[in-house]
Amino acid sequence: MSSAPGYFVSFEGGDGAGKSTQARLLGAWLEEITGREVVLTREPGGTALGREIRRLVQHGEHVDPRAEALLYAADRAHHVATLVRPALERGAVVITDRYLDSSVAYQAGGRELAEADVEGLSLWGTGGLLPDVTVLLDVDPAVAASRRTGDPDRLERAGDEFHRRTRDAFLRRAAAAPGRWLVLDGSGAVDDVQSQIRVDLASRLGLTPGLVAGEGAS
Ligand SMILES: Nc1ncnc2c1ncn2[C@@H]1O[C@H](COP(=O)(O)OP(=O)(O)OP(=O)(O)O)[C@@H](O)[C@H]1O
Ligand SMILES: [Mg+2]
Repeated sequence: MSSAPGYFVSFEGGDGAGKSTQARLLGAWLEEITGREVVLTREPGGTALGREIRRLVQHGEHVDPRAEALLYAADRAHHVATLVRPALERGAVVITDRYLDSSVAYQAGGRELAEADVEGLSLWGTGGLLPDVTVLLDVDPAVAASRRTGDPDRLERAGDEFHRRTRDAFLRRAAAAPGRWLVLDGSGAVDDVQSQIRVDLASRLGLTPGLVAGEGAS
């Protein structure tokens, strides 16, 4: 558990891995079976300031990698201070679609900054807040790309090699801290992936197994 009474879950993985889909399903289920407040949020862009940062970083002109790392860390610092920590302190379950591991995987894994530097910025910015559990939806970038519609944004255009390094960085981080991570094959059916997440979360949260088995995934 984090130091607060709530519970903090992050979803990680490449573009199109199914993070938003799975986060939404998990949130609805946790609200129903725990009766707790569930806060669904995202990075970047979980706050008004964050939405401005998101627009500038993802749809603006080229951003130098160090400036980019600082902007994502600024979004995170503000998000944690104004939304995530207050929710955890009132006992909510907070589910964020991306968190600090995305910065490390994308900025350090993908763009060749030092991992410790990128992580250090976010740890400083958030006062060291880490999720209780981080769900990694691991998907071959080609599978994820086939799910996408619409025009690719700046990161989505970054190329195969970039996406491969990013995926490897997520897997390495997960292997280094297995207590925090749940790594799942995100190429399965939506309901199958969701069931695996529910079983794991139920055991971490000490929920009754019957409740989990008895629920459909949607
Ligand atoms: N397991 C799955 N199998 C097939 N399609 C899926 C699966 N999960 C999600 N999708 C579809 O793939 C697309 C991307 O899913 P989603 O938006 O949840 O991914 P994401 O990880 O949040 O992507 P992004 O990084 O772009 O926000 C959506 O159209 C969604 O309906
Ligand atoms: Mg999404």
